[in-house]
Amino acid sequence: MTAAGRGTGPGPGPDHDRVAGRVAVVTGASRGLGAGLALHFAGEGMRLGLCARHRPVLAARTRPTARDGHVDPSEVPVLSAVDVTDRGVLARFAATVVARFGRIDLWVNNAGLLGPIGPLAGPAAADPAEIARTIDVNVTGVLNGTAVFAEHVRTREGTGTLVNISSGAATNPYEGWAAYCASKAAVDQLTRVVALEEARHGLAAYAVSPGLVDTEMQAAIRATDRASFPQVDRFRRAATEHRFNSPAWVAEHVLALAFGLERPGTVVVRVPDQAVPSGLAG
Ligand SMILES: NC(=O)c1ccc[n+]([C@@H]2O[C@H](COP(=O)([O-])OP(=O)(O)OC[C@H]3O[C@@H](n4cnc5c(N)ncnc54)[C@H](OP(=O)(O)O)[C@@H]3O)[C@@H](O)[C@H]2O)c1
Repeated sequence: MTAAGRGTGPGPGPDHDRVAGRVAVVTGASRGLGAGLALHFAGEGMRLGLCARHRPVLAARTRPTARDGHVDPSEVPVLSAVDVTDRGVLARFAATVVARFGRIDLWVNNAGLLGPIGPLAGPAAADPAEIARTIDVNVTGVLNGTAVFAEHVRTREGTGTLVNISSGAATNPYEGWAAYCASKAAVDQLTRVVALEEARHGLAAYAVSPGLVDTEMQAAIRATDRASFPQVDRFRRAATEHRFNSPAWVAEHVLALAFGLERPGTVVVRVPDQAVPSGLAG
């Protein structure tokens, strides 16, 4: 993992012996990057709390196996339908995870919306209600998850790692993406703040830009018309050239932050490109 958005190499990996048995929460785990992170974490032997508005499912091969007809309840993931904009529901989900596993070591605020694509003004202006919803999910949702996890870390022994999924759009302006760009810039900054506030309570906080990952969100970007999103061809080209980071690659970098032997010097980090450097920011 490299710092401040300019990846030049994979950096130190996670200490795999330290990962198995640890407890991770991933929001927005019903599909896309969140589902991929969950799958990879499960493969590492982590215990999981997963949520999204649609209750996530975990692939059969990563489900705990029955021994003598019994599945150890402490290995069964918590899978919940949660809207991250509802702090109370999110807090109850976290309490369920803690009740089952005893603690949460890593919390990934991944749930996010691309939101409306289009200018803020003119005949094709983005719908104000969609803008408000994007800000609510991408900013309030992340604030909620951050607060719930920070409260948890304060109440127990040891350290915890918070990863808020950001985007290159936090720093690169894209025409037609005002709500998304603004929301991701907010994610970076709120994460810097909580990193300062909670360091003395054992919380390490990172805003992680995953690079381009081939998900429904990317498909929606590619399907946009040029009038609404003038840079759409760059994203279509990236797909043609298969210039994506896999969820497993992103997961390894998240685990390196949480359980690796080194720490980056900055709160805002970018997962390096897995394939050819794309120069794009999703
Ligand atoms: N894909 C990329 O190239 C890329 C690049 C940079 C950053 N990112 C960021 O990575 C994260 C994941 O993106 P993705 O590409 O995987 O998107 P995606 O395929 O659209 O998946 C988004 C996930 O968020 C969940 N979600 C949406 N609103 C929610 C809410 N209110 N409460 C709980 N869960 C909610 C969705 O599940 P439900 O519909 O079931 O709620 C889904 O599981 C986002 O934060 C995105 O901004 C992605």
